Amino acid sequence: MKTKLIAPSLLSADFGNLQRDIEMLNESQADWFHIDVMDGRFVPNISFGFPVMKTVQQHAKKFVDVHLMIVEPDKYIDEFINHGADLISVHYEACTHLHRTIHHIQNRGAKAGVVLNPSTPVLMLEDIIADVDLVLLMSVNPGFGGQKFIENTYKKIAETKDLILSNNSTALIEIDGGVNLDNASKLFDAGADVLVAGNAVFSAESPERMIELLKI
Ligand code: DX5
Ligand code: ZN
Repeated sequence: MKTKLIAPSLLSADFGNLQRDIEMLNESQADWFHIDVMDGRFVPNISFGFPVMKTVQQHAKKFVDVHLMIVEPDKYIDEFINHGADLISVHYEACTHLHRTIHHIQNRGAKAGVVLNPSTPVLMLEDIIADVDLVLLMSVNPGFGGQKFIENTYKKIAETKDLILSNNSTALIEIDGGVNLDNASKLFDAGADVLVAGNAVFSAESPERMIELLKI
């Protein structure tokens, strides 16, 4: 997988025109579709589930990156893969048996990522870093789009990079929350491989142009 990727979050799309927004992303320089699934239990908000995944599966022509912000993610992993997920990320804080969950995702043929909330230290990944395909660092507290970026994320990127290098891991680093034109190039320079952007893309006058600018 190449680096410097942009993954627009469909959470900020226009659900009345979802197919139109998906097709816009197909034609744009966006690399991945980022799908934010919230259950109202792990996070204080509910987003969407399989009916939206079905529309994504029908129309999206790019890599589908699913971020599960749900308790007991194991119950739903197979169904997300059946609905076209190429990568599934689960929260460290939501998985009692993270090693089992990561290997289950991979055995089903998808890539597997682990997500850390802003207050969870990177060192918790020491014994799983060699197994994961991606580390997703939350740069806001998950639950809502359009929040302010937490600056401590830069320190966590550096720590994650060190952990990856010292374990010969091939994991990508993805950043999620409050990404915009003020921080995107700094985040890539700090070592991020994939940036999620919801509000920045979908509230822009030209989402396609914003995606291009976020990559510069
Ligand atoms: C936060 C979600 C995000 C988020 C990104 O709970 O995981 O993907 O909505 O949105 P922006 O870019 O608007 O912060
Ligand atoms: Zn997300």
